[in-house]
Amino acid sequence: MDLKSYLSDRAALVDAAMNAYLPPVKERPSTIHEAMRYAIFAGGKRLRPVLCLAAAEACGGETADALAPACAVELMHTYSLVHDDLPAMDNDDLRRGRPTCHKVYGEGMAILCGDALLTEAFLVLSETPPTPRYGTRDYIAELAETGSSRKLIGGQVMDLDGEGKKLTKRDLVRIHEAKTAALLTSSLRLGAMTANATPAKLAALTDFGHHLGLAFQVIDDILDVTQSTEVLGKTAGKDQAVEKTTYPSVIGLAASRNEAAKLTKAAMNALKPLGKKATRLEQIAAHLLQREY
Ligand code: IPE
Ligand code: IPE
Ligand code: MG
Ligand code: MG
Ligand code: MG
Repeated sequence: MDLKSYLSDRAALVDAAMNAYLPPVKERPSTIHEAMRYAIFAGGKRLRPVLCLAAAEACGGETADALAPACAVELMHTYSLVHDDLPAMDNDDLRRGRPTCHKVYGEGMAILCGDALLTEAFLVLSETPPTPRYGTRDYIAELAETGSSRKLIGGQVMDLDGEGKKLTKRDLVRIHEAKTAALLTSSLRLGAMTANATPAKLAALTDFGHHLGLAFQVIDDILDVTQSTEVLGKTAGKDQAVEKTTYPSVIGLAASRNEAAKLTKAAMNALKPLGKKATRLEQIAAHLLQREY
């Protein structure tokens, strides 16, 4: 299967599973279930769940066994976007090509929607089949640590704190690792765990996720400068408007592109211990470096 078909095929599997996991709109109170589905089914790239499935496959596992954690990581990611867009945070009106959750449902409902998506992530994760090496406790601990103040929340805190300040490149790497790379890494690790991956394979995927995640956020920051709002599906030029420190603002666009390429190469190198089975992950990394949104 070519990469394009693979990505759309796996995204469709994730969407079908997600549809089955999420409460139906008619379940009361309807508004929150409508808001949750609005945020989830808005046409995101589904990168994190696809990484989860591809990692399971790379470790010799079954796609079906990795669907629960794939949905869980997308639920956590979407919650983080709903809250990231709130007026008290990045104050964005547009997400995934549509008005943001709080624009449609109001701020109170968007806060609750994020809370509900995050909680749902753990409910769905608890459905993941255990393997000889990994049990439910391991799955929960993996995602909880990534969503915690040590990682995702900590990264968002440092990102907000950094507005209007001059940060160093080292500060920036710390923020990107926490707010973005950690969840990409956990997506891969959870997929691998459903395949009963050896500690050596998990370590290789952790290294891959770290570099891929850093590259991913550098590219997000580049696209914020170079791409149109229409193509991005979110407001372009936002980072400069609120004086975020980004790779382009610290080292310029050309050096940022170089950095993204270097990080992607490092990510691919990390896949060596997985051999031929990691071809799909390598293709995804190459594709993300070229992405336009
Ligand atoms: C956006 O993530 C937030 C970042 C961590 C840069 P994505 O670019 O994966 O957003 P969606 O899921 O496709 O909307
Ligand atoms: C968001 O980073 C990262 C998380 C939501 C954890 P950004 O603020 O750069 O993401 P966009 O550009 O709004 O998607
Ligand atoms: Mg932000
Ligand atoms: Mg934002
Ligand atoms: Mg951004």
